[in-house]
This record gives sequence, C-alpha cells and structure tokens, in this order.
Amino acid sequence: GSNAMWGGRFAEGPDAIMEAINASIGFDRRLARQDVEGSRAHAAMLAAQGIVTEADAEAIREGLLTVLSEIEAGTFEFSTALEDIHMNVEARLTELIGPAAGRLHTARSRNDQVALDFRMWVRDQCDAAIDALPRLLSALVGQAEAGADWVMPGFTHLQTAQPVTWGHHMLAYAEMFARDLSRFEDARRRMNECPLGTAALAGTSFPIDREMTSAALGFDRPAANSLDAVSDRDFALEFLGASTICAMHLSRLAEELVIWSSAQFRFVALSDRWTTGSSIMPQKKNPDAAELLRAKIGRIFGAQVALTTVMKGLPLTYSKDMQEDKEQVFDAADALMLALAAMTGMVGDMTAQRENLEAAAASGFSTATDLADWLVRELGLPFREAHHVTGALVKMAEDRGADLPDLTLADMRSVHDGITDDVFGVLGVHNSVASRTSYGGTAPDNVRAQVARWMERLA
Ligand code: ARG
Repeated sequence: GSNAMWGGRFAEGPDAIMEAINASIGFDRRLARQDVEGSRAHAAMLAAQGIVTEADAEAIREGLLTVLSEIEAGTFEFSTALEDIHMNVEARLTELIGPAAGRLHTARSRNDQVALDFRMWVRDQCDAAIDALPRLLSALVGQAEAGADWVMPGFTHLQTAQPVTWGHHMLAYAEMFARDLSRFEDARRRMNECPLGTAALAGTSFPIDREMTSAALGFDRPAANSLDAVSDRDFALEFLGASTICAMHLSRLAEELVIWSSAQFRFVALSDRWTTGSSIMPQKKNPDAAELLRAKIGRIFGAQVALTTVMKGLPLTYSKDMQEDKEQVFDAADALMLALAAMTGMVGDMTAQRENLEAAAASGFSTATDLADWLVRELGLPFREAHHVTGALVKMAEDRGADLPDLTLADMRSVHDGITDDVFGVLGVHNSVASRTSYGGTAPDNVRAQVARWMERLA
C-alpha cells in the first residue's frame, strides 16, 4: 500500500529492499530517550508561543512519557516501515492521543530532530567519559603512591635504558588520561549548541523561541546557522577524535600489561578477576581483558575513519548518508566505555612484583649513563669522552658475562686511570633514580610530590 507518512505524494509503497536499506530503527532506537526529551521541550515551547494550545501540548507531553515508558519496558512494537525512532515515536503517540499528535511536528523537521537527538546522545557519552576517566586516574595514582620508590627498568626501543620508578611510570599514564579527560571536556563545551528549531534547513516562519528549547535541554545557546545545524556532525567526530586518542593510550597500557604479565617479564601479577585460564595448559593465566581491550580499540579508530568518510563528500545540507553516522558512534562509545571500565579494574587490582622489577632494573647496564655522568662530574671529562670510556667498560663487562658493578677498580682504571673507588657509589639503581631530581624526573621525591598533586586534583 501507499506510505503512511507521506502518502499524499506517493501512490506506491517502497520496495522491500528499499525499506531495508532505508530503515534505521534497528539502531536508532537508542535515541528514544533523547527523542522524547527533545519533543517534550518542543511541545512546551510551541504552547508557550501560542502555536499550539496548552491542552494539545499537555496531551503530547504526557503521551510522549507513555511512549518512552513502553520503550523502556520493552513492550513497544518497533516498525521497520516507519523507518526510524522519530516516526515510530510519533506514530505511537498518534495511537495514544489522536490527531493532536500531528501538531508536534510544527516548526520542526526530522533533520533538526535527529541532529538534536544525536547531539544529546553524544553529549551524554562525553559525560560518561568525563565520569569514568577520574576513576582510572585514581587507580593509577594509587599504584604510584604504593610504588613511588620501587625501581624498574625504563625502556627506549624496548631495550633497557635507565632505571625509573614504578610510580613515575604509572603517573606517565595519568598525564595521558588527564589530557584525554580535558579533550572530552573541550568537545562537550563546543558541541553544546542546540540545533532544534532550525527545521528542515532554512529555519521556520513560525514564531518559535529557540532560546527556550535550548535552555530546557541543557544547551548553552541555540546554533546560529540553520544550514550548519542540520548538517553538522563535528560533535560526533570530535567525540570520536577524543575517543581515538584515549583508546590509543588505553591500548598502549594494555600492551604493557600483556608484556609485563608474561613469564619472561613477571613485572605484574594481574588478578584472577581480569584473567582467564586455559582449557589445556593448567599453568596459564591469560591477560584476556588487556588483549580484548587492545583489540576493541580498532572499532573506535574505524568509526573515526568511517564517519569522516561519510561526511567528506556531502554538499550542504542534510543527505541521507548522514543516517550512517549513528551505528559507528554507538559502537565506538560502547567499546570505549567498556575499555575504560576494564582498564580501571585491571589497574586497581594488579600487583607490581617489586623484587622482579628491581632485579630487571639492575640488568642490562641500566646505570651506564650514571657512570658516564660521574666521569663528567668528578673527572671533568667532556661528555663525549665519558660516553666512550663507559662504552668500553660496558663491553668489558659484557664480554665476561658480568654487570658494571662486578668490574674491579683495576678493571676500571685500565680504561681510564682517573677513576676512583667512589664510582661504585653511582652504579646502584636506587642511587640512580634518587639522583634524577630535575623537575619531571623519576626521583621518588618527585613522584611523591606528583602523587600529592594528583590526589588534590582528584579529590
Ligand atoms: N533517520 C534519519 C537519520 O538518521 C532521520 C532524518 C531523516 N531526514 C530526512 N530528511 N529523511 O538521519
């Protein structure tokens, strides 16, 4: 039969495949709450402006609450023929309250309606990230506080570089996730303009009050240009952008947890709550949460590319292409929230293996730089010469299968005769980290000061 929504113009209904490619109700039902909220604010404004009667607005507003409660109770019957959440809600409203429902769409289009709903949904996700990130920060700061002076190897190229402290390494991630937090805050601030009332694309001739709906829906102001407001998806892209960077940070930490929990490293023990066993190998404790988290991040990167690609060829204003904005963002947001929660749980529960960290820190000639610095400081050697002398000593130790502190004073003096017994004082890893007191360095006192700063900030 003819179309229920625009039957006036259409003699024939859509092909079944057309209906399948056109329908978004399979996913945009997730916008139900935002759709009802937006419509309720719109109805109240229409009444306040004398565009519909108070009685009609009241019936609409009440009816919409009933629709929402049906959707939330799972008793609502969604129809693919009705395409999307907006049409489904309106059709049910008509069943419930009769012809007055038809007045709701005055001075509005699905174009500003979907722009509004989706923007509010993404805004909620920013809030969820802004809520979740401080919990992850607290878990990291908790680890840093416990291990402010635990020594571990610091790496470049995944080769032992210099000893660092566990606390310093944990706080490196705190810095990253705090920047992520501020990116979500920035994005939220910029997206908080209300598109409702821009109608199809040109605005409307009805005397609407956009300030009223904007304020009622928690926006800072109405969007200033109707063409932009119905066709802009920057807000979703910025959310994905912030999510992409945050996800990348999560994935790097997940990667470290996978490496650190291996038998070859044994830097951390992940708790039973975040690992799984093997059906055949009894000894196994696999870091599945970290691995899945690392993998799920791909969905977020993919969404960022997919939505930028959807948008890049669209002339102003709305094109149906834009219906493809939602699934990607829904999926990315789900992946991000799950990843944040899993990482927070893993970090909070994990146990750093202090002895293993310290033993690893002492291997791999990690204090060679300390030796070179000593030669500069005590003997006045140019750094380049000190580097050369130290390199020769490392080679000597390596040839013997020994470490730097295993060399004798005579060994040392055979390479440079100015070296004295004092040199052995700088070859220990605790001495090494304690000496890195420059601002931002790994010294335990610095870490403790940073922990205090973080605690104040998170309180
Ligand atoms: N389901 C549509 C979407 O998600 C709603 C907007 C439809 N607007 C239109 N003019 N066909 O984009």
